[in-house]
Amino acid sequence: MPREVLEYLRPVNGIIVDACLGGGGHARSIIEALVASDEGRRNRDSPAGRERPPAHDGGGQGRGRRSFGLLGIDRDPEAVASAQRQLGDFDYVEIVHANYTDLPALVRELGFAPVTGVLFDFGASLHQLLSGPRGFAIDADGPIDMRFDQTADVPSARDLIRRSSERTLRDWFRTYGEEPMSGRVARVIYERRREMETTGDLVRAVRDAVPARFARKALARVFQALRIVTNHEIENIRRGLAGALEVLVPTGRLVALSYHSLEDKEVKQLLRAGRTVGKLRVLTPKPILPGAVEVARNFRARSARLRAAEVIS
Ligand SMILES: C[S@@+](CC[C@H](N)C(=O)[O-])C[C@H]1O[C@@H](n2cnc3c(N)ncnc32)[C@H](O)[C@@H]1O
Repeated sequence: MPREVLEYLRPVNGIIVDACLGGGGHARSIIEALVASDEGRRNRDSPAGRERPPAHDGGGQGRGRRSFGLLGIDRDPEAVASAQRQLGDFDYVEIVHANYTDLPALVRELGFAPVTGVLFDFGASLHQLLSGPRGFAIDADGPIDMRFDQTADVPSARDLIRRSSERTLRDWFRTYGEEPMSGRVARVIYERRREMETTGDLVRAVRDAVPARFARKALARVFQALRIVTNHEIENIRRGLAGALEVLVPTGRLVALSYHSLEDKEVKQLLRAGRTVGKLRVLTPKPILPGAVEVARNFRARSARLRAAEVIS
């Protein structure tokens, strides 16, 4: 939803944080809008209509204080490398490999202020979802990894499956996958846990556990649940959103794109709580959904939900 992201994020000044940089698709349009609006302002402000030199302290490389530009964060080193290739030529862009739960510390350490917008585009990127070696893909065989950061010393989805009880597996599939046949799926996976090496093994276990006509949906839900658990996604979303509110200045905007109900629920709760205490003005009383054209062009967009709010104080 690139148009809607720009409309609600309103990147016209200050620092915009793209907390889920991925391949840098949104980041590119944000930085273009930011720079264009600033050039427009400078041309308007100059009596002769001529551009004056940038009034920003910082830009390009360097770690000094910065008051204008885009800070892009991703937990996946591959995404960071790809975004660096895509955005490397832009001034005013800083890309860091980090968890967005560390947003307040990052902003402080990098000396970035004022933060006038934060974008979250939750979940996994299409690139991650389709890549066999990452372990997120149902249709491409690979290790059952599913870590966003494969360089981190944290357990993979396979490690978690091996060390979990049948009951824990069932709870995960029920809670994080909303899988109606979580008990059956958990039983088969638990019985085979020691031989479970590849996503192909996982797919066969799920297919053996449920009737064929439910298999595709069950697979999507089981993979989603394992990905969420492996990456502590719901807890991170909660912490990331709270961190964004800590750094945003008054009139700053928070925009979040969710792809399933558990993500959306976290955003909705945060916006509601912020409104109740008078901290936020909710800009989207109902979530904004993608249009038919976008859904036809991009299959993943069909489940997207955008919510946005403005900081009051
Ligand atoms: C849906 S993709 C983002 C796509 C991107 N906005 C674009 O336009 O190309 C989500 C990204 O968030 C990253 N991610 C997930 N959890 C994260 C976290 N806790 N901290 C930082 N990045 C995270 C993933 O690695 C993935 O690259």
